[in-house]
Amino acid sequence: MSPAPRSYVVSPAVAVAGEIRVPGDKSISHRAAMLGAIAEGTTEIHGFLESGDCIATLAALSAMGVRSERAGPGHFLVRGVGMRGLRAPSGPLDLGNSGTSMRLLTGILAGQSFDSVLVGDASLMRRPMERVAEPLRRMGADVRTRDGCAPISIHGGRRLTGCEHVLDVPSAQVKSALLLAGLFAEGRTRVQEPGPSRDHTERMLGTFGVTVVREPGAVALEAPKGVAAGRVRVPGDFSSAAYFLAAGLVAGSGALTVRDVGINPTRTGLIDILRLMGADIRVYAHPDPGAEPSADVEVHPGPLRGVTVPAALVPAAIDELPLLFAIAALADGETVVTGAAELRVKESDRIGAMAAGLRTLGVAVQMQPDGLRIRGGGVRGGTVESRGDHRVAMAFAVLAARADSAVTILDVQNVATSFPGFAQVAHTAGMRLSEGA
Ligand code: S3P
Repeated sequence: MSPAPRSYVVSPAVAVAGEIRVPGDKSISHRAAMLGAIAEGTTEIHGFLESGDCIATLAALSAMGVRSERAGPGHFLVRGVGMRGLRAPSGPLDLGNSGTSMRLLTGILAGQSFDSVLVGDASLMRRPMERVAEPLRRMGADVRTRDGCAPISIHGGRRLTGCEHVLDVPSAQVKSALLLAGLFAEGRTRVQEPGPSRDHTERMLGTFGVTVVREPGAVALEAPKGVAAGRVRVPGDFSSAAYFLAAGLVAGSGALTVRDVGINPTRTGLIDILRLMGADIRVYAHPDPGAEPSADVEVHPGPLRGVTVPAALVPAAIDELPLLFAIAALADGETVVTGAAELRVKESDRIGAMAAGLRTLGVAVQMQPDGLRIRGGGVRGGTVESRGDHRVAMAFAVLAARADSAVTILDVQNVATSFPGFAQVAHTAGMRLSEGA
């Protein structure tokens, strides 16, 4: 494999148009690999995302004795070892840049008979991990963090007891970690959230034969006798499609279609926000959705107006907010986002990173602890820092296509953690992006 590019130079492009596909959904791919690992029998996955983050999950599972075979592009067979079949890894499990891998695996590992230690790259080692460790300790697990962060040390052989968890922030990673620990606990594990976070774990547990009881704002399960191997078809990742849908909406001409994109409503808040801004987005849902609905999504360019984003839409657009900040710089008038303090503790401080880059490109931005106020109108060229954050890098690439002159985006190597092949898809769609060493 050639080394990941360290920068992008993006020149203005008039049309971003045509038909594209994006790689498989990251959240769904992680969950398919993890549930496949603890299932009885072989799980077949089509559309698995072969990105840095999901490969980190497969590598951690392999270090615990789970074999996966690559039968073709995105086609994986995971040889499940059963709920009691994972083996002690011989050293720390390195999850790279992947928060989902670290938090969800902590839930599974809390219920094992052996000890384990989880580490990651510099960004992941700075992210808050007590949000999973503390509720797991309430279930009886022995999970320790260092100053609230990784390394996470898990001492196995503890008896877990299901309990009621009330989360103060909607978080699919925390909810999922607790549900996965609940598979190994005595009694009922219930998780209540203040707002809906993505529900891929709940849906996929059903595919693997585990009964999950869902109520508005809460989900519960009891330990099953076993987890049955499943067949999973992973649709294109809405979070990856979002960059091109946005690029198509702000383009000078043409229409753009992204084929086979996941449209789980807990993920598509950006569509609702963009429609409030006046966007023309057409969703052609596929029949027979299976566990996860998918669609072809078509966008037509036109003027966008600034909006105050309703707080209720924030959780379902959380990973797309850096992109929304970028688009807001091109809209007429002001866009205000609040209630998004979680962005401060993602792969980077996404509020700080976007504010700094937008200012460099001449945009008036006011920063709040939990969001941004952005005055739209257009952007000039320049050089921006992505701070090693894949979503910040791709958001600026989209914005750059509409800047007055070229924009250089630094530190983009982590784009491959979620969207391998981003540059090629960008070319196909008509963007003028070159990769630099
Ligand atoms: C994810 C949940 C979200 C999201 C992340 C993926 C998941 O994180 O930002 O990119 O797959 O469960 P939080 O649970 O921290 O909100």
